[in-house]
Amino acid sequence: MPSDTPPVLLTSPRLNLALLPPDGAARVLAYHEANRDHLGPVSPARPDNFFTVTWWRSRLAQDAEDWRRGLALRLFLLPRESPLSSAPVLGSVSLTDIRRGPLQSCELGFGLDHRAQGQGLMSEAVRAICDYAFGLLGIHRIQANHLPENHRSAAVLRRLGFLEEGLARELVLIDGRWRDHVLTALLAPRPPAK
Ligand SMILES: CC(C)(COP(=O)(O)OP(=O)(O)OC[C@H]1O[C@@H](n2cnc3c(N)ncnc32)[C@H](O)[C@@H]1OP(=O)(O)O)[C@@H](O)C(=O)NCCC(=O)NCCS
Repeated sequence: MPSDTPPVLLTSPRLNLALLPPDGAARVLAYHEANRDHLGPVSPARPDNFFTVTWWRSRLAQDAEDWRRGLALRLFLLPRESPLSSAPVLGSVSLTDIRRGPLQSCELGFGLDHRAQGQGLMSEAVRAICDYAFGLLGIHRIQANHLPENHRSAAVLRRLGFLEEGLARELVLIDGRWRDHVLTALLAPRPPAK
């Protein structure tokens, strides 16, 4: 496999979900540049050099390290019909803050290119990463938070079976304002009773 071919971790009917190597920085940057207005309003403050290849090269190296250490899994959505080494980035889905011991929990995050919305791609990706979390990773509880007015995000989570658990006041600093977030979670499926 050429060194710039990303390792595919998961597949879904229409997507490869992959950790991208540092060589993929330009593709991730192109995705974020095309989605500044779409992702910015729901994202925490970004570093000054966020929109540079240099920042993304180092961030992708950090993603690999975080995954190696079992701290976080940040995957990119790539169309299955495109070669892995050149497929455009359609979005991202992540499990971060992976906690072991008596918690076995993590935080789910996701974002999709504005031009790829309305096709069920994110629901497909979230289903795949949740199955992986509850299966091979042995996670018990996946938490996801969203702004109250983020109805598309709420719909994805509802579709996957996440339940609302409350409202966290002033949870995240976005664009200089502390913003309330709706708390939701999905629990690992229980084995069928015998
Ligand atoms: C949140 C976000 C990922 C949702 O995108 P989305 O396209 O609505 O979600 P999906 O890809 O799962 O697509 C679902 C839509 O496709 C439709 N659809 C079409 N084919 C489908 C299929 N095969 N399966 C499921 N849904 C399908 C659904 O009916 C739904 O459309 P609707 O909203 O008109 O009912 C996107 O809006 C986004 O990136 N927002 C900005 C970032 C963000 O908010 N992230 C979350 C922060 S908490």
